[in-house]
Amino acid sequence: MALSGPKVVTELPGPKSRELLKVMEENVPKAITSAAPVFIKRGEGALFEDVDGNVFIDFAGGISILNVGYSHPEVVQAVKEQADKFFHSQINCVPYEPYIRLAEKLNAVIPGNFKKKTLFVNSGAEAVENAVKIARKFTKRTEIITFTGAFHGRTLLTMTLTSKVKPYKFGFGPFAPGIHRIPFPYCYRCPYGQERQSCDLFCAKCFEDFFLEEVAAEEVAAILIEPIQGEAGFVIPPDEFCKELRNICDKYGILLIADEIQTGFCRTGKMFATNYWDVYPDIVTTAKSIAAGIPLAAITARADIADSVHGGGIGGTFGGSPLAAVAGLKVIEIMQRDNFADKANQIGKVCMERMNPWKEKYPIVGDIRGRGAMVAIEFVKDKKTKEPAKEEVSKIQRFCWEHGLVVLKTGIRDNVIRLLTPLVITESQLQAGLDILEKAIAQA
Ligand SMILES: Cc1ncc(COP(=O)(O)O)c(C=O)c1O
Repeated sequence: MALSGPKVVTELPGPKSRELLKVMEENVPKAITSAAPVFIKRGEGALFEDVDGNVFIDFAGGISILNVGYSHPEVVQAVKEQADKFFHSQINCVPYEPYIRLAEKLNAVIPGNFKKKTLFVNSGAEAVENAVKIARKFTKRTEIITFTGAFHGRTLLTMTLTSKVKPYKFGFGPFAPGIHRIPFPYCYRCPYGQERQSCDLFCAKCFEDFFLEEVAAEEVAAILIEPIQGEAGFVIPPDEFCKELRNICDKYGILLIADEIQTGFCRTGKMFATNYWDVYPDIVTTAKSIAAGIPLAAITARADIADSVHGGGIGGTFGGSPLAAVAGLKVIEIMQRDNFADKANQIGKVCMERMNPWKEKYPIVGDIRGRGAMVAIEFVKDKKTKEPAKEEVSKIQRFCWEHGLVVLKTGIRDNVIRLLTPLVITESQLQAGLDILEKAIAQA
């Protein structure tokens, strides 16, 4: 039976979820926590039902993995058909067509008017690790520049590249060498105390001093940037800043790596967020929504860069598994055929129409920002001082969950709610979710 909701029919968590939470507590490290501590039974589009029969609207989308929605029937069919043929052969042992067809497809859709090549791995962090390896190998340089606010994963290297200390780095040092961090253009809280109207892109000009004071440009292999910072609270750099980054990279022979892991696959209203730039990155990392939930990540690079690595230097046992590759091919086919970029823009439009008045109406709404369906609200205790409203955000998240809506917190200061709804959400589901969110804000 098709799901409809939101529908809360038990106290939350319900009795069956409470039983499973006990098993979880006994067997899974405490570090693994859940935004909505109810156990999912099945998902459909932008809704899921828990084991107690409660139905939730999902504004989290598995952290931007479910852009085509839960269990898209065509993806399910593609995976089933592949499962009937073979699960695994490993590209280094016996090659298989889905791997090379998906590489061909990504090389065509990733921004860049040059020949590209794609390698598959299993997770976003692994994709970023490999992008850095490839950049170092190609440039024969060691140093990497990353940004304040950045999130690139939880392995040693990607945790080092990541900015937010708690929880991602706290107690896990020492970190990998060769990483340098420069302030990100977070215009709502400009790290240089400037105003966007008059700053003349001061943040980009700071690179010249950075090369004098922190690291020599000739030693830098790559600058790594999220086109929109995810974990930092959906911070959108000015497009001109990204163009300037390209100029800096060209001037000094540095590679530009765009981490599209959270922004990719139509989330921002274009297939990739770098489609908004007038310039191209040299390497792009993708993951999350690429295969609708089957673990898969990719590194797509200019062909000469990708080919600079010797045989066996990059790869892995499971990377680009046949099941994931057929899912990835189907996801891109669906997104292009059904114009998911338009869907994301429509979601963004509805959100902005509903949410923009909240800036006037609610004293704790400091900033509303977004591109396509990647939308965030930053909460403050005081609009002038911009003191982060962290506790209020936790209350909002809890209220939403208790009323059948899953939302995620984010932000360096934990004071941002981010919306990453599946792009197949219906307008009535979206409006119902926004109704709950508004009530939660009003309560807070
Ligand atoms: C921009 C970005 N890069 C890298 C990662 C790490 O991906 P994974 O969790 O698949 O390792 C994430 C995950 O949230 C991300 O948002």
